Amino acid sequence: MLASASGQEAGGCGSKDLVSTATDSHFPSLSSASQPQIASWHTSSHKHERRPAAQEEQLNEEVKRFEELFTLTPERLKHITDRFVTVLKDGLDAPGKTVPMLPAYVFGWPTGNEEGRVQPPALSYLALDLGGTNLRVCHVVLKGKGKFEITQTKFRLTDEQKQMDGQKLFDFCAECLHTFINDHFGGGEGEEPILEEDIALGFTFSYPMEQDAIDHGKLVRWTKGFGNPNTEGKDCAAMFRKSLESQKVPIKMTSIINDTTGTLIASNYVKQDTKIACIFGTGCNAAYMEHIKNIPKIGHYNLPGDEDMAINCEYGAFDSFEHKHMAEIRTKYDEHIDLHSNKPHEQSYEKMIAGLYLGEIFRLCLCDLIDEGTLFLGQNTYKLEKTNVFDTAFMSLILVDPTDELLTCAGLFLHFFGLETTQEERNFFKKLAYMIGLRAARLSACGIAALVTKMGYLEEGCGVGADGSLYSKFPKFPENLHKALEDIFGEKGKGIVTHQAEDGSGVGSAIIAAMTLKRKEEGKYTHC
Ligand code: BGC
Repeated sequence: MLASASGQEAGGCGSKDLVSTATDSHFPSLSSASQPQIASWHTSSHKHERRPAAQEEQLNEEVKRFEELFTLTPERLKHITDRFVTVLKDGLDAPGKTVPMLPAYVFGWPTGNEEGRVQPPALSYLALDLGGTNLRVCHVVLKGKGKFEITQTKFRLTDEQKQMDGQKLFDFCAECLHTFINDHFGGGEGEEPILEEDIALGFTFSYPMEQDAIDHGKLVRWTKGFGNPNTEGKDCAAMFRKSLESQKVPIKMTSIINDTTGTLIASNYVKQDTKIACIFGTGCNAAYMEHIKNIPKIGHYNLPGDEDMAINCEYGAFDSFEHKHMAEIRTKYDEHIDLHSNKPHEQSYEKMIAGLYLGEIFRLCLCDLIDEGTLFLGQNTYKLEKTNVFDTAFMSLILVDPTDELLTCAGLFLHFFGLETTQEERNFFKKLAYMIGLRAARLSACGIAALVTKMGYLEEGCGVGADGSLYSKFPKFPENLHKALEDIFGEKGKGIVTHQAEDGSGVGSAIIAAMTLKRKEEGKYTHC
C-alpha cells in the first residue's frame, strides 16, 4: 500500500506493530524496521518542498556543534578510566561511598556442575526478577555441565506500580509468583501446587542494596525512575517475605541478588573466562569477583582473605552528587535530564549511558533546534515537546532504517509526533542518533576498562558477559564499545571481549541459590 498525500491512511497501517514494540521495551525487535508496511508510512514529498525547512548547510553546522559536544577522544576516555579506578577502590574501603561497591555474599565462581543437592536429584529453582521495565518469574532446572532449562513469564510494570507504596509493589511481585506457580504447576482451586518440597526462590532485585548476608538486602536508593515510598533504607528481602506470607505463597526465598551478580555467575557457568558482567539496559551497572582481603570494609566479619566474593559495583552512580569526574563532558542535556529526574544528582554515569535516558537526550537536542527556529518550521511540535516521549527504541529504528530516503524515520515522526520531515532532516536525525549512541558505548567502555585495570586482567585478557537491551539491540553498541576499549588500552584492548551474557536474573539466580544451599550444607559462613 502506498502512502496517501496526507499520510493519514499510511500512518494507520502497521501502527500496531510499532506501538506495541515501542512500549514493550526501549528496543523493539529491529526486524520490524525492514518490514515494508513501516516504510509505506512516508508522506508526500511535494508537501515537504512547500514548507520552509532547515537547509542542508545549516544542518551540517548543527552536526558539527553536536559532534563537539558528544565526541570523546581516546585521551578523554583514558582520563575518565583513571578516575574510575580510584573511585572503585574507594568504594571497597569504606561503606557509603558514591560508587558503593556492594559485597554480594556470593562466594567464588560456580563449578559449572551445579545441579542442586544430590537428594532429591534434579532440584529446580524459582527466580523472580524485578528489573527496570518488567517483572519476570522463572522456573529453572540446572542440568550441570553448564546446561539448564527455563520456563518463564513476564509481567509488564505500570508507571503507577513504580511509584506505589513499597509493600504494595512487593505484594504485586508475590501475586505474580502465585499466578505463575498456579499456571505452570497446577494448584488450581483447592489443589496444592506440584513443586518439590522446599523449592528455593532466588529474588533478583536490580537496585543498589547493602547486604550482610545473601538473604538480606537494604535498599540504598531507588534508581531507573522508581520512587516507591517506604522502601529506601529497609530490608527488601524481609518486605518481600512479608508479602509472600500475606499472599499465602508457600515458597522460601533463599537469596536476594543484583542482576549483574546473577549475570556474572550465569556467564561464568557456561563460559569460564568471564570475569566481569555488565548490564547496559534501562540502567547500567557491573559486577566482578574480588578477593576478600581487598574489601577492607567487611574486615570485621573475619572471612578468609584469600576467598573471593562477588561485588555489585553499582557504578551507574559514578560522578554523582558533585559531578567532578566528568564535568568536562557533561552537556546541558545531561544536566537537564538529571535535574528533572525523580532523583536529581544520582546515577550520573547511568543517565549518560542507559536506555532509559538516551531517547530523552535525543529529544532535548531536537527541542533546542525547534526553539532556535531550525527544525519543523510552521509545524505544531507540541507532541515532541513532552518529556520522555522519544523512546530510545526510536533511535534504534532510525539507525537501522534500510531505505535511502529513511522512510522508517519519516513514518515514525509523522505517526508518533504528527511531524513531516525532509530528507536532509532525516539524515541529520540519523547522525545525531549515532553520535548519542556512540558516546554511550564509549563511556560504557570506561567502567569496564577501570575494572580490568583494577584487577590486572589486561595482560591475559578476559571475557565480559554483557546483557541489556542497549547492548543487544542498539545498532553498533558492542562494536563501538570494543573500539573504545582499544582506544583506552591499545592493541591489548582486543583481549577484553564482551559477549552476550547468559540470563543472569533467571539462570544466574538459580545457580546462586544452588551454590548457597551447598555452602550452607557444608557449614561454610552460615551466618552470611
Ligand atoms: C541499578 C543496578 C542495576 C542496573 C541494571 C541500575 O539502575 O542501580 O542495581 O544492576 O540498573 O539493571
